Amino acid sequence: MVTTDEKIPQQRTSFDLTSYLKHQKDLVDQALESSLPITKPEKIYEAMRYSLLAGGKRLRPILCLATCDLMGGTVEMAMPTACALEMIHTMSLIHDDLPAMDNDDYRRGKLTNHKVYGEDIAILAGDGLLSYAFEYVATQTRNVPPEQILEVIARLGRTVGAAGLVGGQVLDLESEGKSDITPETLTFIHTHKTGALLETSVVSGAILAGATREEVEKLSRYAQNIGLAFQIVDDILDITATQEELGKSIGKDVQAQKATYPSLWGIEESKVQAQKLVDEAIAQLAPYSEKAEPLRAIAQFIVTRTH
Ligand code: FPP
Ligand code: MG
Repeated sequence: MVTTDEKIPQQRTSFDLTSYLKHQKDLVDQALESSLPITKPEKIYEAMRYSLLAGGKRLRPILCLATCDLMGGTVEMAMPTACALEMIHTMSLIHDDLPAMDNDDYRRGKLTNHKVYGEDIAILAGDGLLSYAFEYVATQTRNVPPEQILEVIARLGRTVGAAGLVGGQVLDLESEGKSDITPETLTFIHTHKTGALLETSVVSGAILAGATREEVEKLSRYAQNIGLAFQIVDDILDITATQEELGKSIGKDVQAQKATYPSLWGIEESKVQAQKLVDEAIAQLAPYSEKAEPLRAIAQFIVTRTH
C-alpha cells in the first residue's frame, strides 16, 4: 500500500526508444545518402561521403527532427537542417582526428579520413562539408518562413565559430597536459565543444516549426543539461568501454593527460552528476504530454548508453 509520504513511482510508458531511434536514423541516413552526390573532382566528394556516411548515432539530426515534431512541424521542414547538423558534426570530427589535433586512427569503427585520403584532402573534406551545410539549409528548406530559416543559419554560424565549437576546441587543446584544470574550465570546454551543437540541434528544430521564445528557452535548458551529461558519460566510456563498443580509440584522455570529469570527481560521482543533469533536462519537458516522450527517453539513454 502507498502511504501519503511515500513517493509513487513514475508510470513507465510503453515508448520504445530502440525502434524510434532505428526508424529515425534510417530516415536521416537516407536523406544524407542523397544529400551529397559525387561529381567532379570525385576525390573530394568521396572523402566527404566517406565520413558523412560512416554510420554514427545521428543523435543531432534526430534531436532536430524530434523538437520540430514536438512543436507541430513536419519532417520535410527540418530534414535539411538535420542533415546540415550531421555535416557540421562530421567535419568537426574529421578535423579533431587530424595529426595536428588528436591524431586518431579510428572513428566510427573505420580508419579516420586523413588515414584514408591524406591530411590535405581530410582538411578540405572538412571545409567542404562545413560550407555545404549552410548552402544545404539555405537552398533545401521547404515550407518554413524565411526569417526562421535565417535564424537557424545564424545560430549554426555562431555554434560552429569561436563562440562555440572552435572556442571549445581551442581551450581543450590548451588544457592538455595541465594538471590544474578547474571544473569551470572543463565545463566551458564541453558546453562549447559538444554542448553548443547539441543545443542548436534541439533549438533549430523548434525554431523551424515556429516555436515561441519561451518554448525555445525551455528546450535550450533541456539541451544544455543533456549536452553536459553526454560529455560526462563520454569521459566515463573512454575509461570503461572497449574500442569495439565505441568504434574509436579508447583511453586517449588519460594518455593525453586530459582533464575529464572522472579525473576530477571519480567515476561514481561523475555518474551521479550525469543523472542529475538528465533529471533536470527531463524536468524542462513537464509542460509537454507524451509527444515529448522521445526527448525524455533520449535524455535517459544518454546516461545508460554503452557506446
Ligand atoms: C571531439 O572531441 C571533437 C569535437 C566534439 C569537436 C571538435 C571541434 C573542432 C575540431 C573544431 C572544428 C572546426 C570547425 C570549423 C567546426 P573529443 O576529442 O573529446 O572526442 P573523441 O574521443 O570523439 O575524439
Ligand atoms: Mg578527439
